[in-house]
Amino acid sequence: MLNWEMIKDLHVIQKLHQILGKWFSLDLVFLDEFGKLQSDLDPSSFEFNSYLFKNQITSPKGKEIFLQDLDSAVTLLNNSDEKVLEFDTFYPGVKGMINEVRADGAMVGYVIAYSFADSNFASSDSEKLIKKMEDIGHLKEEAELAAKKLSRLESFQLDYLKELMALYSDEISTYQQEITSREQRIKDLNSEVSNKYRYHMMIGKSKKMQQIYSLLEKISSSESTILVQGENGTGKELVAKAIHYNSPRKDKLFLAQNCSAFNDNLLDSELFGHVKGAFTGAVKDKKGLFAMADGGTLFLDEIGDTSLTMQVKLLRVLQEGTFTPVGSTTPQKVSVRIIAATNKPLKEMIAKGEFREDLYYRINVINVNLPPLRDRNEDIPLLMEHFLEKKCAEKGHQLKTFSKKCLEKMLDYSWAGNIRELENEIERLIVLAGEDNIITPDLLSARILEKTGGSGATGGLKGINTNGSLKEALSELEAYMIKEGLKRTNFNKSKLAKELGISRAGLIMKVDKYGLDKRVKKAS
Ligand SMILES: Nc1ncnc2c1ncn2[C@@H]1O[C@H](COP(=O)(O)OP(=O)(O)OP(=O)(O)O)[C@@H](O)[C@H]1O
Ligand SMILES: [Mg+2]
Repeated sequence: MLNWEMIKDLHVIQKLHQILGKWFSLDLVFLDEFGKLQSDLDPSSFEFNSYLFKNQITSPKGKEIFLQDLDSAVTLLNNSDEKVLEFDTFYPGVKGMINEVRADGAMVGYVIAYSFADSNFASSDSEKLIKKMEDIGHLKEEAELAAKKLSRLESFQLDYLKELMALYSDEISTYQQEITSREQRIKDLNSEVSNKYRYHMMIGKSKKMQQIYSLLEKISSSESTILVQGENGTGKELVAKAIHYNSPRKDKLFLAQNCSAFNDNLLDSELFGHVKGAFTGAVKDKKGLFAMADGGTLFLDEIGDTSLTMQVKLLRVLQEGTFTPVGSTTPQKVSVRIIAATNKPLKEMIAKGEFREDLYYRINVINVNLPPLRDRNEDIPLLMEHFLEKKCAEKGHQLKTFSKKCLEKMLDYSWAGNIRELENEIERLIVLAGEDNIITPDLLSARILEKTGGSGATGGLKGINTNGSLKEALSELEAYMIKEGLKRTNFNKSKLAKELGISRAGLIMKVDKYGLDKRVKKAS
C-alpha cells in the first residue's frame, strides 16, 4: 500500500505539479491500485490549475462524472499494454492522461493529469462542451470560461506531458522501494538477535559475517597462527578474542599488544621482558607478555608497524617457541598462540622491503579478512540494537528506543567502514537523550541528519526555475534528481542508473552534461 499522503508531500512531486500547472494548466490526481481516488479535492486545500476541473468538482453531478471517467480510464489502461494513455472524458473534446505506477514490479496505483484538449479542438467543439456543461447544471458563464481556458496541447506538448507523467511514476516507485526496504530493515531490527546472528561478541547476520563465523569455528580449536586483516574498526580485536575464547586455551590468558604504540626498545621489553640492570631504569626483572601468556593467546595488533629487527625476533618465537628477555642470555620456552592483526597491505610492504616475507608466511597460516561495514549494510540494524543495549546498560540507563524518524535517518546514512562511528554515535545519542527514553532525530549528529533521504523526500527544489521554457525546467529537474541521487547512492552510478531507469552510459553522459561529477564538484 502506498502512503499517498507522504507522496503528495514530496518536493519533487509538488514541483512537478507546479510545472504541470504553469505550463499546461493541468491538475494531478492519484488513484490507489484499486482505482480509488486518493487525492483530497476539497477546493479549500487543493490548488486547482484547471478551471474546468475546479468547476466540475464543486458541482455534485460533475464530481460523479469525474469518478466515472476515472473508472473507465483505469479499465482502458488495464486492458492495454501501454503504461500511459490519453483518454476521453464525459465532456466532449476534454481529455485526461493516465499513467500507471509500479513499485517492485507490482501495480501500486495511477496518476492522472486532467484536463486538456488537443490542438484539433475547434470552436464547434467549444460550443458542444459549453452545451454539455449547461446540461448538467453549470452556469453559462462558467461553462464559457472553462471552454476558453481549456489548454489546447500540441502534439510535442503531449509528448512532454507523457515524459513528465513517466517521471512522476518513477519518482513514486523509487520512493516506495526505499520505504519498503527501510521497513524491512526496521522489521529486522525488531526481530530478536538470535545466536546465529552472533559469534562470541561479534554481531552480524550478513552472508559475509556468516562465512567469517564458520571459518572461526573451524580455526579456533587449531593451534595455527592467524592473521586478521581489515580496515580500521572492522572488529579485528573482536575476532582475536572470539578465537581465543572458543579455543582450548580459553582458561588461560588472552593478552593484547599494540605494536605500533612503542619504540623498539620498549616493545622488546614489553614482549620479552627484561632482567634487572639490562638498561637504565631496569631496577628489577620484568616478565614479558610472551611469558605471561604462556598456555594462552597473544594478540599482536598492528603487526605491520613493527621494525624489521623486531620482525626477526618475532619470527624466532614463532619458529622455535623460544625468546630471550632483554639483557639475558638464557632463552625461555613458551607455548603461546599468536594472532596478529593489521590494516596495512603487508604484501605491498614486502615488495617494498618493509615487511619480512618469511614472517608474513609464518603468521599468515590462516587469514581472516574482515569486510567493512559498508559491505554488509544488512547488519546495521542488528548492530544498532546491540550497541543501544550495551551502552544503555553501561551507562545505567533503562533501555531506550529510537523514534521511527531517528531510525530512518540512521538507516539512510551511508556508514563507511568503521563500526566505531556507529558505536560512538549511539553512545552520543544515549548521553544526549538524558532521562528521555525515546531518542529523537534532533539529537543526531549533523552529518547524519543532513543526509537527504531518497527521492528528494527532504531535499529542496527551491532553486528550480518554473519561468523559463519547459525544456529548461525539465533539464533543471533532471539535473536536480541526478545530483540528489548521486549523493544518496554515494556516487554509485550503476545503482542510480537502475533507479532512474536509464542506462549507465546514459547517466554518465548526463552527469557530464550537468557537471555533476564528484571531481568537478570538489573543484568548484
Ligand atoms: N561484528 C561486530 N559486532 C559487534 N561489535 C563490533 C563488531 N565489530 C566491531 N565491533 C565493535 O567496534 C569496535 C571496533 O572493533 P575492534 O577494536 O575489534 O576493531 P579493529 O579492527 O581492531 O579496529 P582498529 O583497526 O581501530 O584497531 C569495538 O568497540 C567493537 O566492539
Ligand atoms: Mg584493533
